[in-house]
Amino acid sequence: MPERKFKGLVFGVPREIMGGERRVAVIPDTVKKLTDGGAKVLVEKDAGVGSYFSDEEYKKVGAAILDNVHQLFDQSDIILKVKEPLFNEDIGMHEVDMMHEGQVLIAFLHPAAPSNHDMVKKLMERKITSLTLDGIPRISRAQSMDALTSMSTVAGYKSVIKAADRLPKFIPMMGTAVGMIQPSIVMVIGTGVAGLQAIATAKRLGAVVYAADIRPDAVEHAKSLGAKIVETGVPADIAIGEGGYARPLPREWLLKEREAIKEGVIKSDIVILTALVPARLAPVLVTEEMVKQMKPGSAIVDVAIDQGGNCELTKGGELTVQYGVSIDGAKNIPATVPITSTWMFAHNIYNYVATFVKDGKFVIDTNDEIIASTLVTKDGKLHHAGAREAMGLD
Ligand code: NAI
Repeated sequence: MPERKFKGLVFGVPREIMGGERRVAVIPDTVKKLTDGGAKVLVEKDAGVGSYFSDEEYKKVGAAILDNVHQLFDQSDIILKVKEPLFNEDIGMHEVDMMHEGQVLIAFLHPAAPSNHDMVKKLMERKITSLTLDGIPRISRAQSMDALTSMSTVAGYKSVIKAADRLPKFIPMMGTAVGMIQPSIVMVIGTGVAGLQAIATAKRLGAVVYAADIRPDAVEHAKSLGAKIVETGVPADIAIGEGGYARPLPREWLLKEREAIKEGVIKSDIVILTALVPARLAPVLVTEEMVKQMKPGSAIVDVAIDQGGNCELTKGGELTVQYGVSIDGAKNIPATVPITSTWMFAHNIYNYVATFVKDGKFVIDTNDEIIASTLVTKDGKLHHAGAREAMGLD
């Protein structure tokens, strides 16, 4: 007899409406877990199409398919989404305006981002209990819920595939009848989650891989994946801050780091940029001068673009060619690998929900570290520290 922990709860899963978004918050496997647990699951018609899940597959595991998204928002206790609520052009209404007091919303809300402040105010006004998955702390208890890490894994992998596709030459070393073709050189800067996955992918393709990071731990991980290390020269006490995360570098050290990585960047065929300091703008590490000196045909993918990017020349959301080098500033890389990213996201959001639903209720206990760092709004109050600071409320 399965545990009936979701008994009485109604989950609503709208189709994502952000342009180019192909992910969805649930897959048939996770819907089954919810319905087996006693929940009712409402899925908007065609919500899974971008990730190749049909309405029929959701129906088979007990979901009800709704054509009318108003009804879906109306009838649900908990809304599961991938991206933050937006204005729905098709029906001329903001998604938050379809929600009601006390309803729970779980998604990537990015509440500190200025473009989301109006949406956050709406959540407060409507007294929605909103929780953001980008706030999941990187602690072991939360690993299975860490959707941001999942998406960085996807982004790291796909960034190398994108660059490889654009590169006008082979990546692996190859012996041919007319001679030996030398392997391409890939440099990965920032070797956290996305960077390590980029290293692993580039190694699988047969590249010679160089890597740089300012945290000694990250450097060790890169080394263990077979990358050759480019020393940044930044001492650990300057590089590491609270909780072991990287710190923003004082200008003098940033300039030294640029000098240290310059030669590696210039000689690379592919440069993958993923350097990030939590809750800050990404450090600019690759300058226009360096790009100018790269070989024409080389490819940069600036994965850190959501935080402003690591290359001075990257244009957000665009692919440009400058000084003969392609510079990719694509913003939503995980949406271009929708089967894998949806599979990971759906399990992460399910694990989050399953952890905090007790006896048919989503329990908000701010003494829990995970809830404290994911809670955005409740009862008209803004709880999220980053959003409060960004919105000038503290
Ligand atoms: P992470 O925090 O795991 O890794 C970032 C790494 O950058 C850390 O190892 C840190 O030590 C390093 N770093 C910080 N300052 C540095 C410096 N000055 N020089 C060298 N390394 C430095 O972050 P994660 O999860 O790997 O994400 C990386 C970036 O990828 C983020 O900006 C994230 O938003 C972005 N991302 C972008 C996606 C897209 O679609 N464009 C999708 C998923 C993630």
